[in-house]
Amino acid sequence: MYDFEYFAPTKVVFGRGAETRTGALIKAQNCKKVLIHYGGGSVKRSGLLDRVKASMDKVGIAYVELGGAVPNPRLSLVYEGIALAKREGVDFILAVGGGSAIDSAKAIGYGVANEGDVWDLYEHTRTADACLPVGVVLTIAATGSEMSNGSVITKEEGMDKRAYDDDLGRPRFAVMNPELTMTLPDYQTACGCADILMHTMERYFTSGGNMEVTDSIAEALMRTVMKNARILVRNPMDYDARAEVMWAGSLSHNGLTGCGNDGGDFATHMLEHEIGGKYDVAHGAGLAAIWGSWARYVYLDCLPRFHRFAVNVMGVEDGGAPEATALKGIEAMEDFYREIHMPTSFRELKLNPTEAEMRDMAHKCSLASGGHKGSASVLYETDMFEIYRMASER
Ligand code: NZQ
Ligand code: ZN
Repeated sequence: MYDFEYFAPTKVVFGRGAETRTGALIKAQNCKKVLIHYGGGSVKRSGLLDRVKASMDKVGIAYVELGGAVPNPRLSLVYEGIALAKREGVDFILAVGGGSAIDSAKAIGYGVANEGDVWDLYEHTRTADACLPVGVVLTIAATGSEMSNGSVITKEEGMDKRAYDDDLGRPRFAVMNPELTMTLPDYQTACGCADILMHTMERYFTSGGNMEVTDSIAEALMRTVMKNARILVRNPMDYDARAEVMWAGSLSHNGLTGCGNDGGDFATHMLEHEIGGKYDVAHGAGLAAIWGSWARYVYLDCLPRFHRFAVNVMGVEDGGAPEATALKGIEAMEDFYREIHMPTSFRELKLNPTEAEMRDMAHKCSLASGGHKGSASVLYETDMFEIYRMASER
């Protein structure tokens, strides 16, 4: 068990109609002018944006708005948001949407509060001194960005997808009404569930330090997400299932399931960021497509964890050789992905990368990782390429 810090400062307002409290939540932050930031239009079509604006009008808060954050949100829109926020004297950013709008809002917040090019942060050549306060009205359970310190932005030139993690960017509040996720396409609901599971798995498959209480929380979380993801395949309008998944999404990535361990593996995320940047696929689908290949490549290096996962999470019968049990756990996880219509290979993700493209992704992945990545097993560029190759041959 390792020493740890746990910092989860985000106020959570959860339940039906929660979005009507947005204005009052911003007012409590003592801010004068808000930039409302959203995605491609789902929040307009659903009427959510109007309800949020009405809640702000009610308490007399001024705002400007900027839509257009796309999945794998782009740096050019971040620049646009920074310029708009500076011009308008904005001192609070409200993201209404999913991880893409939230991450873009955080990036704008960094860009306004710090001199220089905000992309430097994502290239890790410097760190931020401040961030404008950010609030969230969440519309998809997935990334956990509503409570996380992460922001992931894609630079169009080269389609480089890079993350910047900083506690300064953790949202002040997160409004979470599970009903808001009922308008999601089924595919996005499933992508979200895959991402939530992955955030916990990244912290579960480690070789360093574990706490029984953290492991138990993680295992319950994974079982709960799988159970409710299956319910949502059959009945997307099930409120309780939506609520379970939504709360699990926040708990999966606010640091809770990393307490006491070595900070996690996160190689699958790094591998996905290259896929998402290059081919613009949905993050959760990219993770599901690569995870099985990663797991098969590393499981012998982290056998006790894979064995425990198979038995405690996937319900594989304990007995026989641990290697065989661990492998059955991996297979069961892939069966689950297929059950919720998530891909388990590049082919199922509808990609057919060439060897040169996979070598390029492996090279960029190792660079973005500072040379190597992983805790379950430490991966270098050649390992990364091998995992991409395995995903292309399945
Ligand atoms: O853009 P709109 O029109 O809103 O449509 C979105 C988008 O097409 C749609 N959608 C969202 N809520 C909806 C809805 N459609 C109907 N009804 C609703 N209620 O769903 C699509 C996906 O939205 P997006 O925000 O892109 O999804 P997600 O939350 O999965 O975010 C993905 C981004 O977050 C990054 C990913 O890499 C990716 O760029 N991540 C951020 C993390 C963080 N900040 O901590 C951690 C994650 O690991 C991840 O890397
Ligand atoms: Zn993720």
